[in-house]
Amino acid sequence: MSSEPEIKVASYADGKSKIVIRPHEYDGIQEYDQTLPNWWLFIFYGAILFFPLCWLAYYQLGFMRPDEEVITQKMAQIEMAKAKDLQDMMAHLDNSVLNDKWAKDATVVANGRETYMANCTACHGQNLDAKMDLGNGQSVPLPGLSLVDGQWKYGSQPMDLFKLINLGTPPESAGNNGARMAPWGQQMAPIKIVELVSFIMSQNPKDFPDAHN
Ligand code: HEC
Repeated sequence: MSSEPEIKVASYADGKSKIVIRPHEYDGIQEYDQTLPNWWLFIFYGAILFFPLCWLAYYQLGFMRPDEEVITQKMAQIEMAKAKDLQDMMAHLDNSVLNDKWAKDATVVANGRETYMANCTACHGQNLDAKMDLGNGQSVPLPGLSLVDGQWKYGSQPMDLFKLINLGTPPESAGNNGARMAPWGQQMAPIKIVELVSFIMSQNPKDFPDAHN
């Protein structure tokens, strides 16, 4: 016990590795003071310096750009690329192209079936009849419209289907009992929508006889 070094009383430690005990005392509690090690001070002052350097680099000198700006710009680029993609597709897409070129191409129809099975069955059903088969001879209606009933609410031309799938239920429409079609063009490339239209046409030979020659 007595081998412990005597600790000096002083207001502050004045030098490396020195420990003092400060003169004040509250409720019998006293306080030590010790010079902070350099590695600690380095991090402390470094952190203080870091802030104005970042502020200058990101917000004043333009060396770096804030994440928000980078993301906003990337999103704008993506939107522009998407708009251009759609424009390129629309430049040579019409009812006869859909009938004569796309819907007659078995690969395009097969791709459309695949996209349909992955994205559309929840509301339009495996058999496109907007019903879910319960397996016991019964079925429940799904929120979408039947795609094989010969009725086309927003027009029966191939381009009407393209437009509806691309843009979804028109804003002025109340939808189907309030249920609306999503604008799939926001998440699918135009070619995917062409494939979907071709697949739907292939399932409706009566309505699209030209596509089945
Ligand atoms: C979340 C449910 C939902 C999903 C998923 C969905 N639809 Fe729809 N779809 C609807 C609803 C609801 C309508 C009726 C919209 C209306 O009346 O305005 C509709 C209408 C349609 C119509 C018009 C049908 C007609 O008889 O006029 C087509 C075509 C269509 N959807 C295609 C698709 C395709 C292709 C997909 C997959 C990419 C898809 N839908 C996915 C809910 C859905």
